[in-house]
Amino acid sequence: MNIIDGKMLAANLRAEIASGVAKLKEEKGIVPGLAVILVGNNPASVSYVTAKEKACVESGMYSREIRLPETTTQEELVNLVKELNVDPAIHGILVQLPVPKHISDKAVIDAIAPEKDVDGFTPINVGKMLIGEECFLPCTPHGIIKLIEFSGMDIKGRHAVVIGRSNIVGKPVAVLLARKETNATVTLCHTGTPDIAKFTREADIVVVAAGRPDTLKGDMLKPGAVVIDVGVNRIPDETKPKGFRLVGDADFESCSAVAGAITPVPGGVGPMTITMLLWNTLESAKRVK
Ligand code: GUN
Repeated sequence: MNIIDGKMLAANLRAEIASGVAKLKEEKGIVPGLAVILVGNNPASVSYVTAKEKACVESGMYSREIRLPETTTQEELVNLVKELNVDPAIHGILVQLPVPKHISDKAVIDAIAPEKDVDGFTPINVGKMLIGEECFLPCTPHGIIKLIEFSGMDIKGRHAVVIGRSNIVGKPVAVLLARKETNATVTLCHTGTPDIAKFTREADIVVVAAGRPDTLKGDMLKPGAVVIDVGVNRIPDETKPKGFRLVGDADFESCSAVAGAITPVPGGVGPMTITMLLWNTLESAKRVK
């Protein structure tokens, strides 16, 4: 059994990105800039945006951190996004989701210029991804494809089962796996699927993005399957300095006994999501004429 080291793959790609950033600075005098907006102080979101900002600076990019109070109005947030859309120092705009309940995430995403939408969340980029046009691919799904390839599995002709149909992970990862380039046969399971194990037992690849611990257990897997665990769940644990530990959506112990390869939590999908964000930001800056 192979543990898919997302940290190592991320470090390799980040070194490549950092040299791309240095080259762009030298040749064109352009420093890729990423604006990261966080509204409120949801603890998980604070830790995600802190990691994104740190990675951005480490790769030589410019990071603009914008932290707004929970009471920010939708109009204020949309206006800020519109200012960033025309700011030449900014090549990528990221609004950390979820936003507070009084703000419509659709209104905010729709305000982001598609050419600065490095999350790949706007309808334009989602549509282009679906029909196979060049676009910013969403970061977590793109990172997942890289992780499966890194595990050594040839995706072509394999049966992939995705658990979860979110717009951020489940739906786009199903689309990317089924594209001609990857050529998997894809089954998309969700909360309306009566017997998920029936499908996962037939799967060569299982991507679990359900947002619930223990969604996937070893007895639901075909021996040798590649498991990509997208879950980040905080479990109270007094023995840890922060008072909690992180677990994925897969039960690591039972799944690792059956799988051929599996991503750990933390250290699997998370570092790759951030890496693909940097990748998109560099791509966006390279497009500047
Ligand atoms: N919330 C959870 N994942 C993501 C992500 O990839 N991007 C943004 N903007 N918000 C998120």
